[in-house]
Amino acid sequence: MPQTTTYVHRFEPAPATTAGGTLLLLHGTGGNENDLMPVGRAIAPDAALLSPRGRVLENGMPRFFRRLAEGVFDQEDLVARTHELADFVAESAKRYGFDAKRVVAVGFSNGANIAASMMLLRPETLAGAILLRPMVPFEPKTPPDLRGRRALVAAGKADPIVKPENSERLATLLREAGADVTLHWSPGGHTLDRADLTAATAWWQEG
Ligand code: MLT
Repeated sequence: MPQTTTYVHRFEPAPATTAGGTLLLLHGTGGNENDLMPVGRAIAPDAALLSPRGRVLENGMPRFFRRLAEGVFDQEDLVARTHELADFVAESAKRYGFDAKRVVAVGFSNGANIAASMMLLRPETLAGAILLRPMVPFEPKTPPDLRGRRALVAAGKADPIVKPENSERLATLLREAGADVTLHWSPGGHTLDRADLTAATAWWQEG
């Protein structure tokens, strides 16, 4: 039996009965469950929104897994937290009655990294992912089967935290596992801009 995982979270049902799936909103370091609600609603007006708060605290800042330094992850914790979050999504589907096969993550920075980790470790959890400023969470020993799943990697050319080669490597990794990957470049850094949201909305509408 999976252990019941509790996250502080928000859930907003789809506005109409013609529901367009569920967005799993994953904030960046120091964020919370409120941050991405307006972004999620703007990307997908027809979706349900599930937005947990990361359970790890770094100097009081919520995150989804521990890190040893910026961009250097505690791999053991990352694996454990990835499973914990995937179990929470499965439990939430039962609790709120949404279709577990139609969950798409929208993650920013630390949230994008755990979403990428979930695609690699628990590929059944996500039909797709909008990864905003992600990096390679780890190199999988056995590639997952991501055929039929989609990902948008939204990278910044001038991102001081994620080098362009790292964004490209992530896109390649997901593509080699069979995912349909769009790599979107913004000229900016680690913060999101309007073009990211336009790309995310277009990607969602194509799906
Ligand atoms: C991470 O820790 O996931 C990355 O360094 C991104 C961040 O949260 O700043």
